[in-house]
Amino acid sequence: MRLSIPPLPQSSTVNAAGRLEVAGCDVVELAREFGTPLFIYDEQQIRERCREYQSAFGRVPGTKIVYASKAFSCLALIQLLAEEEMSLDVASGGELFTALSAWFPPEEIFLHGNANTRDELHWAVRNEVGYVVLDSLAELEVLDRVAGEAGRRQPVLLRVTPGVEAHTHEFIQTGKQDSKFGFCLADGVALDGVSRALEAPNLKLEGLHCHIGSQILALEPYRKTIAIMADFMAACRDKLGFEAGSLDLGGGLGAAYLGAEQPPRVDELAETIVTATRSEMNRAGLAVPRLAVEPGRSIVANAGITAYEIQAIKTIPGVRTYAAVDGGMSDNLRPALYGAEYMAVIAGRPLEEPTASVTVAGKHCESGDILVKDARLPDPARGDILVTPATGAYGYSMASNYNGQPRPAVLFVKDGDARVVIIRETYEDLIRLHQRIE
Ligand SMILES: Cc1ncc(COP(=O)(O)O)c(C=O)c1O
Repeated sequence: MRLSIPPLPQSSTVNAAGRLEVAGCDVVELAREFGTPLFIYDEQQIRERCREYQSAFGRVPGTKIVYASKAFSCLALIQLLAEEEMSLDVASGGELFTALSAWFPPEEIFLHGNANTRDELHWAVRNEVGYVVLDSLAELEVLDRVAGEAGRRQPVLLRVTPGVEAHTHEFIQTGKQDSKFGFCLADGVALDGVSRALEAPNLKLEGLHCHIGSQILALEPYRKTIAIMADFMAACRDKLGFEAGSLDLGGGLGAAYLGAEQPPRVDELAETIVTATRSEMNRAGLAVPRLAVEPGRSIVANAGITAYEIQAIKTIPGVRTYAAVDGGMSDNLRPALYGAEYMAVIAGRPLEEPTASVTVAGKHCESGDILVKDARLPDPARGDILVTPATGAYGYSMASNYNGQPRPAVLFVKDGDARVVIIRETYEDLIRLHQRIE
């Protein structure tokens, strides 16, 4: 039977034993076989999201769908993305290394970052990445030198902070003026950046980039951003004679975490972006540039779940009941970092009526290590497998070893089969790099 809880993967069903299945795999059995905490991704859902983006933006030829690997990255995922003919956003040397180790085509890689080191830039240039997205004048100068040394004219985009405040958590707003990212539009820094990039002998400025934030649930900020970018592109043409051939609008489309949110559909996002780009470029007397978007969360968040085992139930009469699980902020930092909200499901009996309001606590030595506040659950007990849906983005990628917790295993599930794509860390891994004092 299909299980219609929107944050869960679309393939979620309840099997004959009354348990949660994802892509034909019984989640309780997966937890027993592979241990907990456990990340489980519905592989087909990731592929379908990539295809949805490609077909929705397909009517503007040459549009690049650039998956933001910060949301979740591993070799198997990068291989899948290459098969789906996606492009890739990497934001550090480490993410670039992962991509190249999976043989991702370098020409489809965009390197971002507001503090890339010389080594990271050097490495990106030597590997001939498609674009470096310039974030500052300092980076522009270093990259120009590094590219010159390598004898390459490096294609670049220039990241602009358009001054748009996306209605999302402050920590994941990135396009407002007071931001550590990009060239500020308001004080002329961005125009100066474009001018300097055009003069740099070893850089080839192909266009502009912006990214206004993450977990965006409305389309209006995108329209506003495109209007601002069109004005800036017109200023670049009028003052510098530069017509940007590419416009990268970043990522940011939200995901459903609780079921109540209604993020715009990908086709609605595409319709908004394509229509606004055409009309704003027309207004500014500019040709429609090649477009790029950089979705991360909206590709992987809802394809992933985390399974935990409940270790203890603690009831404080008249106050609250806690269910403590064997993971927490080491595998999902988002609730502690910016108050992100999740729901919870008992995998062994997802259809049972909730009887209790339970706060799901992690196992870490922080009172703020709470995964779900006031979850409605059917009388949870020690040993139950508890699932938090929609943990596919910024979960594993933000994971840590806090309190000596090995990072979980990650599975891809498809047609009743499970493949381990990241092995669970062991205690030995925790001290692998440590040196004893002689
Ligand atoms: C430059 C850039 N592009 C894309 C993304 C992906 O955003 P999202 O996962 O919200 O789609 C981010 C996220 O922070 C980003 O900084």
